[in-house]
Amino acid sequence: MNKDLVGQILDLKRERNAIILAHSYQRDEVQDIADFVGDSLGLSREAAKTDAEVIVFAGVHFMAETAAILNPDKTVLIPDVEAGCSLADTIKAADVQSWKDDNPDGLVVAYVNTSAEVKALSDVCVTSANAVEVVSGLDQNRPIFFVPDMFLGAHVERKTGRKMHLWLGECHVHAGIGEREINSKLSEHADAEFLIHPECSCGSACLYLKPDAKIMSTEGMVRHSQTSDSKEFVVATEVGILHRLQRYSPNKNFFPVKESAVCEYMKMITLEKILDSLVKNQFKVEVSPDIADKARRSLESMIAVG
Ligand code: 13P
Ligand code: SF4
Repeated sequence: MNKDLVGQILDLKRERNAIILAHSYQRDEVQDIADFVGDSLGLSREAAKTDAEVIVFAGVHFMAETAAILNPDKTVLIPDVEAGCSLADTIKAADVQSWKDDNPDGLVVAYVNTSAEVKALSDVCVTSANAVEVVSGLDQNRPIFFVPDMFLGAHVERKTGRKMHLWLGECHVHAGIGEREINSKLSEHADAEFLIHPECSCGSACLYLKPDAKIMSTEGMVRHSQTSDSKEFVVATEVGILHRLQRYSPNKNFFPVKESAVCEYMKMITLEKILDSLVKNQFKVEVSPDIADKARRSLESMIAVG
C-alpha cells in the first residue's frame, strides 16, 4: 500500500472532519482505509447517524445519493462520477409513474439500487438484507410493483409467497454468474457451504443444486461465515467481498464461483481519486429538495427494518 498516499488521505480526513464509507465490493486498499465497510443497508445506516461534516462515498452513485438524501446538510462526495450501476440504470421514474397510473391502489417497493427520482415515487425502499422482511409487512390486499431486480424480486416472492409485479431488470455482474459455473465450483468443493447473493441469475435453479444454499446480502455472508462451523465456502457474488470474508475468518477458505465477477463501476474508485476528492472537494452529490424529501420517507422506512 502507498503509505504516503494513505497518510495524506488520513490527514485530510481529520482536517476536514470527513468519514470514508466503502462498500464491500471496493478495491482491497480502499476498504482498508475506510472508516466503515458494509453492505447497502449498513452504509445507509452509517450515513444516517454520522457526525462527520463530509462523507466521502467509496461506492457507486446511488449509494452516495442515498447518503445525500439522508444528510441534506452535509457534503457528500463521490470520487468518480462515472461510478454508476447497470441495474439502477434499467428503470426510470416514468416507468414507475406509468405502473402507478395503471394501479392507483398499488405499492411500489424499490430496491436501494435505484435513482433518487425512482425512490421518490416509491412507498418503501429495501436492500438485499431486508427485502423479505419489508415485503412480508405490507398490506396483503394491495398489488406490489417490485423494482428493478427481477431475481431479488423472485427470491422475495418465493420467501413470502406473495405474487408481485416484477420489473425485468438485472445486474450484469450477478446475472453473469450462472448455473453452469456454480455447478462446477460446487463439485470441486463438495463439503463447502454455498453463499449466494439474491441478484444472481441462477436464483431458483441453484436451490435445487444445493438445497441448503444461503441466499444473503454481502453483510449476511460476512456474518454467517464467521459463526458457521464450515471451514470452506463457495461464494456467488462480486469478488470484492472476498477481502472481508477472508479478513474476518482468516482460518477459513473462500472460493469465488467466478473470478471475473467484477463490477467495473465499483472498481473506478481508487486511493488517488479519494485523495483528489478530499483536496478538491469533488464531486458533490446533490439531490433537489423536493425529490429528496419524498425519497427520504421510503429510505427511512427501509433503515428501520432488519
Ligand atoms: P448489498 O445490498 O448486498 O450491499 O449489494 C449491493 C449491490 O450493489 C449488489 O450488487
Ligand atoms: Fe450495480 Fe451490479 Fe455493480 Fe452492484 S454489482 S453496483 S448491482 S452493477
